[in-house]
Amino acid sequence: MTEPVQIAVRDHVLEIRLNRPDKKNAITAAMYGAMAEAMDAAAKDGTVRAILFSGAGDAFCAGNDLGDFLSQPLKADSPVLHFLRVIASTPLVMIAAVQGPCVGIGATLLLHCDHVAASETTTLQYNFVKIALVPEAASSLLLPRAVGRLKAAELLLLGEPVGAFEAQALGLVSLVVEDGDPLGAARAFAMRLSALAPTAVRLSRQLLRSESEGTAARMAEENAIFAKQLGSAEFKEAVAAFMQKRRPNFA
Ligand code: COA
Repeated sequence: MTEPVQIAVRDHVLEIRLNRPDKKNAITAAMYGAMAEAMDAAAKDGTVRAILFSGAGDAFCAGNDLGDFLSQPLKADSPVLHFLRVIASTPLVMIAAVQGPCVGIGATLLLHCDHVAASETTTLQYNFVKIALVPEAASSLLLPRAVGRLKAAELLLLGEPVGAFEAQALGLVSLVVEDGDPLGAARAFAMRLSALAPTAVRLSRQLLRSESEGTAARMAEENAIFAKQLGSAEFKEAVAAFMQKRRPNFA
């Protein structure tokens, strides 16, 4: 039987591929559960450096399975809520390769990603109000932060799709791969990241997501982490490699 979500570790990257193309990769409870468990395991594994999402077929993801929405009440232990908690809290870098429609969670998931490679066919659609729902996955916080309050109001209230190039201009996707393969571009980003010092990457990402707002508070947070990294084996290796004119080895 074909799995509706394919999960494998490849070159230290947890690759999660939505594989329900006949339903535009709409996500069912079972798919959320499988993804959340794999992401939890990857965070504990110690060798996985990043998570890469992609989707089979001509759409990245049509959002939550609408049949599931009708038949399954949302409870604290629902797989969808487990998945949402994991995407908001995983210490691993999250990357996505997208094409075609990215609707609902297919669009809001990207607000949690550190790198999004998109094909020219990509459209992002936060269509919650259109189907009489409200924003999820903290998109009512993250989208205004990303694009500003008025644009976020337009996108979240009207729910019309945004094309790839407008999404790039708004900072919602990192790059548009013209006539190319967004998955290849996303894997290339993951490979570049894998060559870097793992703890420095993880802690930098933690700082980028910190909720401390004031300059002094943020500086204090940075200083504490910076001081710890100065004493790390990673930093010693980076400096030794610089002095010896060689590539650092953080393996
Ligand atoms: N849940 C369940 N099934 C879905 C689905 C979803 N979220 N999105 C699409 N499908 C199914 C369709 O019912 C259709 O099934 P069928 O072939 O058995 O009739 C199949 O996937 C193809 O969808 P279709 O609408 O024909 O494809 P399209 O290319 O014309 O449009 C979308 C693609 C994604 C723009 C459109 O399907 C859509 O808007 N889907 C709903 C998105 C949504 O509201 N998601 C919930 C967000 S909270």
